[in-house]
Amino acid sequence: MKKILLVITTYLISPLLFAQTVQVTSPDGKIIVSINDDKIPSYSITLNSEMVIADSRLGLRFKKAAELGAGFSIKHSAKASKDSTWQQPWGERKHVRDNHNELTVTFSTHRESANVFNVKFRVFNDGVGFRYEVPAQKGLDGSIEITNELTEFSINNANESTAWWIPSRGWNRYEYMYKTTPFSEVDQVHTPFTFKLNSGTHLSIHEAALVDYAGMTLKQMRGGVLKADLTPWSDGILVKKKPNFTTPWRTIQMSENAVGLLNSNLILNLNEPSKLADTSWIEPGKYVGIWWGMHINETTWGSGDKHGATTSETKRYMDFADKYGFDGVLVEGWNIGWDGDWFYNGDVFNFTKAYDDFDLKVISEHGLASGVRLIGHHETSGNVTNYRDQMADAFAMYQQHGVRQVKTGYVADGGNIKRIDDNGIVRHEWHDGQYMVNEYLHNVKEAAKYQISINTHEPIKDTGLRRTYPNWLSREGARGQEFNAWGSPPNPPEHTAILPFTRLLSGPMDFTPGIFDMGFNGLGEKANRPQTTLAKQLALYVVIYSPIQMAADLPRNYEANLPAFQFIRDVPTDWQESKAIAGEIGKFVAFARQERDGKDWFVGALTNEEARDISLSLSFLEKGKKYQAQIYRDGKEANWIDNPYEMIIEQKTVTASDLLLLPLATSGGAAIRFKALD
Ligand code: NOJ
Ligand code: CA
Repeated sequence: MKKILLVITTYLISPLLFAQTVQVTSPDGKIIVSINDDKIPSYSITLNSEMVIADSRLGLRFKKAAELGAGFSIKHSAKASKDSTWQQPWGERKHVRDNHNELTVTFSTHRESANVFNVKFRVFNDGVGFRYEVPAQKGLDGSIEITNELTEFSINNANESTAWWIPSRGWNRYEYMYKTTPFSEVDQVHTPFTFKLNSGTHLSIHEAALVDYAGMTLKQMRGGVLKADLTPWSDGILVKKKPNFTTPWRTIQMSENAVGLLNSNLILNLNEPSKLADTSWIEPGKYVGIWWGMHINETTWGSGDKHGATTSETKRYMDFADKYGFDGVLVEGWNIGWDGDWFYNGDVFNFTKAYDDFDLKVISEHGLASGVRLIGHHETSGNVTNYRDQMADAFAMYQQHGVRQVKTGYVADGGNIKRIDDNGIVRHEWHDGQYMVNEYLHNVKEAAKYQISINTHEPIKDTGLRRTYPNWLSREGARGQEFNAWGSPPNPPEHTAILPFTRLLSGPMDFTPGIFDMGFNGLGEKANRPQTTLAKQLALYVVIYSPIQMAADLPRNYEANLPAFQFIRDVPTDWQESKAIAGEIGKFVAFARQERDGKDWFVGALTNEEARDISLSLSFLEKGKKYQAQIYRDGKEANWIDNPYEMIIEQKTVTASDLLLLPLATSGGAAIRFKALD
């Protein structure tokens, strides 16, 4: 009797028995997102009728208010659609189409407080984004503290999938070697997190417009279920908000093949338009710098006999930049604070005082006389309070000397960013917690006041904010070239065949390609060196997108090989259009890009440790037009281990109907300029 009564009660009061489902599809109809309130608010996704994300939980938990999630039902939903094209001031393509269907679902429950929230879904042909919108309401007024984001991504048939990932919450931030594993071995990972289902469908989970919120990492719970794992503040709270807030977009890019992921605009489309009215002072371009010498121990950041950043050395670099057409010269180690173990010198960095052997005025005037700008550097070693105290003065001083770009650095172990709070207490934060998310953006906004663009090293991951703040030109956020100087081990041959499908889905990377002398520690398999051929170093300029690209090696190594250097001189860093044309994750990849407001096309192709022939259709070229293909490719006997330099430079006349066969050596590559002939 008791049992029957209970059932009847449930029937009368519970919304569960009236579970509702609402749906929204992509413009091409291939992706369907279903949102339901059966037991808990959740969503699922199909692509071409294949269930890719099974029913996955939605919701937020708070320190003071009750959960937004369990027990809520769909109150109403509202549809909208958009199909428009917008323009990037610089980028991998000039015109970006934003074509999506939107569904805003309002969930509510019968109680006095914390009783309503929205989830807004946007479905594009290349994937899905959704975010929480939490209106001001009783219980969620005053200061709001999030203790758990319940968002899940429940991967269907995950056990048959392969994943490419780096661990989150580690000491080395995002600078880990990518692992290729069965999905079951995925533990706690950073995004973009990319995986391939058995069907061949490729997916990548990330986020867009990460502003005033903690970075989202993912944790595998029950097999195949990934849960949002927000990086906490030093006091354990995940996110601190004021009433009426939205979260960043949770994104799932998807494609029937690997290459499709590379042509997605989803992350940019989910960001707000530029907040800068005038962007004319933001300059993409190529640079050289007083940099690699320190990494290979020829010179030092600190003062003394081997000091790299001297007035005379900087003038020499500026003359080199002028002679070979570079826009800027990065100088690291010119300011006081590098002596001793600079990794731990965050407290003593002075951002406006130079060492005695460096004259900022003299060198900046020397450069400007020939149109070469000094590129500034701010290494904080993770002491962000020391940096913030000096930031305005430091930018003002650089601006006075014609500096338009500053590279910042936050070298410190994960969880060890030092800040001093309002009560004078030292706190230690993660690079990807809410405090630092805000700190990095503060830096970019402050720089804009001085018409300075930022290239962040040891950054927060990219989430497309370059659209909103176009002076955030580039960043690191993965293992770059520097690891080939001293990393143990250096980047393996597959590294740059994985990056495009993972880290680079988030945005530009300052990888610093172009090492010509691989033998600074000797060649072979064991040495610290780039594990590539020379042609692959050239290919990186096209494969790894960044509006600023460094020619990272020492001037003498370029002057020793001017024919190969010609490609670096010719390749642009700003594009009209970009097309990924071939690739499999971790194996090989090829991109074609057309120069911004120009006619020439460029191709970069590279492979992992396996030699392979790639046959490229040149159908991206303008039909009926002739091009001179200037090809830089691996020589017949080239291999990365003991013959990395053998390269063939040849020219051919081609048209859009040609096929080009590119034989790539082990960890080899090819770089091609298609010069339009008229
Ligand atoms: C790490 C950066 O990635 C590197 O480029 C820089 O030279 C050092 N920090 C020093 O700031
Ligand atoms: Ca670094």
